[in-house]
Parts: sequence; C-alpha cells; structure tokens
Amino acid sequence: MTTREKDLRDPSLPLTVLAVESSCDETAAAVVRDAGGRAEVLSDVVWSQVAEHAPYGGVVPELASRAHLRAVTPVVREAVAAAGGWDVLDAVAVTAGPGLVGALLVGVQAAKGIAYARGLPLVGVNHLAGHLLAPFLAREQAIGGTPGFPFVALLASGGHTALYRADAPTRIAELGATRDDAAGEAFDKVAKLLGLGYPGGPVVDRLAALGDPDAVKFTQPMRGRDNLDFSFSGLKTAVAVHVAKRGVPKAGEGLEDLCASVQKTIVDNLVRKLLAACRREGAAHAVISGGVAANRGLRAAAAKACAEAGVALHVPPARSCTDNAAMIGYAGVVALRAGRRDGIDLNARATWPLGS
Ligand code: KG4
Ligand code: ZN
Repeated sequence: MTTREKDLRDPSLPLTVLAVESSCDETAAAVVRDAGGRAEVLSDVVWSQVAEHAPYGGVVPELASRAHLRAVTPVVREAVAAAGGWDVLDAVAVTAGPGLVGALLVGVQAAKGIAYARGLPLVGVNHLAGHLLAPFLAREQAIGGTPGFPFVALLASGGHTALYRADAPTRIAELGATRDDAAGEAFDKVAKLLGLGYPGGPVVDRLAALGDPDAVKFTQPMRGRDNLDFSFSGLKTAVAVHVAKRGVPKAGEGLEDLCASVQKTIVDNLVRKLLAACRREGAAHAVISGGVAANRGLRAAAAKACAEAGVALHVPPARSCTDNAAMIGYAGVVALRAGRRDGIDLNARATWPLGS
C-alpha cells in the first residue's frame, strides 16, 4: 500500500516515520515504527557538535547552523539505511521549534526536501513534546515502561526546565517553569566556574558521585514558595561567591564535595517540585526527561521520592533523554495519528510554548 492510499490516522496500520532534529547542538535522524501500540526505534543516529562548541564554553549559534549543514545529509542517510531504506518510510517529521532558529532551519529544509522529493506527508513537531513523549518509545533500559494518563512531567534540559500535566499525548499543559536559568544551564555554568569544560552536567554528575553532598550548604532555590516555578541563577551566584572566597578546589581536595553539594541542591529542588505537582494534580504517574534526566543523582532521588509517595516513575534511557530524533519520530507519530499535516510552507519557530 502506498502512503497516498494509507490512512495514517488508522492505528491498526503500521506507521513508519523518518524524524530529523537540529534545534540545538545535535544533528540527529531516526526512524520510528508505530505498530500494534508499540513504538519501535528502527534507527537512531546522533551527531554531537560538543567538540565544536567546547572551546567557547557554550553553544555558538552560527557554528551550530554550519555544523548542522555539514552533518544533516550523512546523518539522515545513515538513519534511513539502518532502518531498511527509503521505501519503508510513510512520513517525515521534523523539529520545527523551539530552538536556535538558524539551526532549526537546516533540519526543516532537509525534511521538506525529502518529503517533497519522495511524495511523503510532512509534519513539524515541538521539541519539548518530543522530550515528554520519549518514555513511549520501546527501549531497553527504560525505567517504568509506558506512563498512564494523567501524568506529570519534569522536563529539565540545557534550554528548558518546566513541569507539565499531560492528559493525552496531544493534551499537555504547563504547570510551572524556570524564571531564569534552566537546570542544565546551572550545571553548565557551575562547571565553567570550576574549570570543568562544556557540557558541565555529565562531568559534575561523575565528580558528585565521589563527594559528600552535605559538605557545602547552599540555600534551596525559591525556598518557602509553594508554586511550581524554578530559579537557578541564585545558585550559580552562590557558587561564584564560594569560589571567589576560597578559590577553585582541586580534585581530591574538595572539588568532588562541591560538585556533590551543587548537584544535591539542584536535584532536591527538581524532585520536591515534581512531587508537589503530582500531589496537586492528583497524578499517579510521573515522567522525567531532557538532558538533565540523564543525571544519576536525579534518577535515584526521583525514584526514591516517587516510591515513597506511591507515584509510578517513568524515565527514558539516558540516550533518549539528551537530544535525539527518535523522540521527535514518536511525537511525529502522535501528530500524524491525530490528523495533523504541514505543507511545504512549514517554518522554524524560535519560541513555541507547549500546549499552544
Ligand atoms: O536535552 P539536552 O540534550 O539539550 C537541550 O534541549 O537543551 O540537554 C542538554 C543539557 C546540558 O545542559 C547538559 O549539561 C545536561 O543536559 N546534562 C546533564 C547530564 N547529561 C546532560 N546534566 C546533569 N547530569 C547529566 N548526567
Ligand atoms: Zn532538548
């Protein structure tokens, strides 16, 4: 059956989607096959630009766009070949926002070109929806299986930190968000202050495992407020003040303790708000996703708190938490199943709040 004859909305028919992601500093392509209620990842290719941006201590938008341009064709080719070739595809999904507009445009143009040349339906999806729906991918090492509805999701990445309530894959509402830095940004900025390089999250995670989380006391961000918003810029300032007074500690001489203390402050805050949101919304399922959800301290603390509260926790494997195209493929499946389509006039959106 050709795509033209096939009703993509019919859940009894398998749907195979090529997805392209280029919103920040990863060029990614994946093929996801939705059949019999199971979303299988046929291929999942991620080309990281970390080495290009590392000398600058953060993502340089212009360099990101150029690197996406170089990588997008080989990355897409590899993902399609690994999934069985162009003929297995029923549709093309692409991250249309939010993100760096110049970076997004590369993926959007590539996806449009492929859809047009192959006569395939095209759909633009929200990057944040991709992160939130990542636990629906059938993946080894996923924790907790597929979430039930309603669920509360904590999305913590380098660009975003927010809590959402999901009543259905297409019905998602924001409950609270960061007022300044994202949690991943806090990890990155602290790592920069400590001379640990970019991106900071994985390094702080590794060092924190060797340190005492109670060695340095930092004030809990937004303490005493029972709203669901976040703020992490104060913590970054507190660490800056700490190292201005005492200098940057060396490995084996306090660096691990400082990393463990910073990580604990961030993690405690994220977990406390996640559980508060579950209570307030009466949700028995919780999801953590986004790059920071790869953090071992966060995974452990969320598992413990959810178990104590009787909330089922669902966490994608680390590979599906950091930016990837498989999650965009599943968000594409959801959009296409709901009857959404985009035309060749699809454009990139730098901002695109989820639920709008
Ligand atoms: O989701 P992601 O790959 O990209 C965005 O959409 O932003 O998240 C990247 C962020 C970076 O700030 C990085 O430092 C952080 O996720 N991150 C971590 C860990 N792995 C990545 N933060 C803490 N612990 C980790 N293990
Ligand atoms: Zn992301």
